[in-house]
Formats: sequence, C-alpha cells, structure tokens
Amino acid sequence: MNFEDLAFLFTNDNRNRGVIRMNFDEAACLWRAVKSTEGNILEIGRRHGGSTVLLLAASEPDRKVISVDLEPAHHASADSFFVRPEIASRLELVIGDSRIPRGETLGLLFVDGDHSYEGVVADIVAHWAQLVPCGLVVFHDAVPNDGLAHINEINHCPGVTEACRRMQKAGIAISIASAGSVLVMKKLAELSNDIF
Ligand SMILES: C[S@@+](CC[C@H](N)C(=O)[O-])C[C@H]1O[C@@H](n2cnc3c(N)ncnc32)[C@H](O)[C@@H]1O
Repeated sequence: MNFEDLAFLFTNDNRNRGVIRMNFDEAACLWRAVKSTEGNILEIGRRHGGSTVLLLAASEPDRKVISVDLEPAHHASADSFFVRPEIASRLELVIGDSRIPRGETLGLLFVDGDHSYEGVVADIVAHWAQLVPCGLVVFHDAVPNDGLAHINEINHCPGVTEACRRMQKAGIAISIASAGSVLVMKKLAELSNDIF
C-alpha cells in the first residue's frame, strides 16, 4: 500500500484546493493513473501549475510532460519547480488552445480545460488518436460528488459527464477508477463519427 491509497483517511472536498485545483482524493487518483502508465503525458488546463507539478512528480524521469493552457496563471512555487534542471528538460509549457492536435504519442491524457460539452469533445477529438491503445484518459469534474456539500451544491460539470458517458456507451473507453469528480478511463478503440 502507498500513501496515495490512504486518501480515505482524510476529509476530501473542494476546500482541499490550493495551488492544485483538485481535492486530495482526486489528486491521489491522478497520481495512481500516472504511476500505472508509460510514455508522454499531455495535460489540458494547468492554471496555477499545481496539477502539472503532480504529473511531473509522479512520472519517471524518462517521461515528457506537455501542458497546454490558454491563460495560465502560475503560482511562484510551481514556477520554482518547473525550472529545476531535471524537470525543465522534460517539460513543455504551451500557451495556446488545447484543441490544436499535437504529434506526440501519449500514454496519459489529463483533461481539465474547457469544461463545456463542446470543449471536452473538441479536446478528445484533437488528441484521441495520439493516445496509445489501453492508454489512460483522466477527466476532472466528470463525476457528480459531494465536494461542495458544505455549501449545498453538487460538484461536477454536466458537459464533461455527458462526453464520458457517450465514450463509454460507444465502447471506445471503459471507466476503471474514480475519486471525487475524477474519472479514469482506459482507451479501447478509436473515435467514430457517431459518438458525440
Ligand atoms: C480548472 S483549471 C485547471 C486546473 C489544473 N488542472 C489544476 O488542477 O491545478 C482550467 C484551465 O483550463 C484552461 N482552458 C480553458 N479552455 C482552454 C482551451 N480551450 N485551451 C487551453 N486551455 C484552456 C483555463 O485557462 C484554466 O487555466
């Protein structure tokens, strides 16, 4: 058992969020997904850079991390981490639209950018072909959960939930893990025109 398997010992809700915009159990789930994959990682949406730090810390030194954000606002602690020589050599920070396809083959895709249905679908369409068979895609804000129960709100983004539901229904991906609003899916097949 590893430290990330002990998330159940903590209170996990949206009040956990700081530099990383994830709850503790969600971050543990993302960490586990990174650990169970190989190859390049593409992050869509980094804002303060917290999840980018996590992806880099969880991945082996031979893995490249590419992070795309339209309007990042890095925290100083994330920037300090990014300039470490052993990190900078395998990190590509892109400022731009995540809907632009890239060339790298991917072992893991982390989707946490535009949370509208159209936005998530555009991200999947842009990058699905680059994800290896049985590669993992991790969605944030996909699963209705009680992260905002303290203010009587349900915490998720319906557009993300719907995109994930359609992917599973079409059989191109299968849900393999979840924590809070995070959903981890394994790629089973390529996209077809009738899914979204
Ligand atoms: C929820 S924040 C990401 C939080 C980060 N993953 C974390 O957990 O620390 C969403 C980010 O997605 C970015 N974003 C929204 N639409 C985008 C797009 N079309 N292309 C690239 N980035 C986008 C926003 O600028 C914002 O910084």
